[in-house]
Amino acid sequence: MNNAAINIIVSEAEECLGPYCTCRGLKIYGFSHLRRAAAIAGRIAAATGQNVESAVVAGFLHDCARRHESGDAGHAHDSADLARVLLPMFYPHLNAHW
Ligand SMILES: [Fe+2]
Repeated sequence: MNNAAINIIVSEAEECLGPYCTCRGLKIYGFSHLRRAAAIAGRIAAATGQNVESAVVAGFLHDCARRHESGDAGHAHDSADLARVLLPMFYPHLNAHW
């Protein structure tokens, strides 16, 4: 899968998951960070023969519940909790990869 195809998956993830992400107002760890992490994860998955959509979605969600640029020690767990809600809503077909 090429980068253009991966970027389409990233855009789709942002479109459906973005409204639920508490990090959306942040400058450093906001959507630009989520998009970069998602694209890099997707490229690694493509290069290694793994499921690209799962990697993109995981990359996009990894900081989805961050609320502050720094000192947000619980953001990893909060993001995992939010991901557990969002994945069945928008990506039920990926449940074998959770
Ligand atoms: Fe991050």
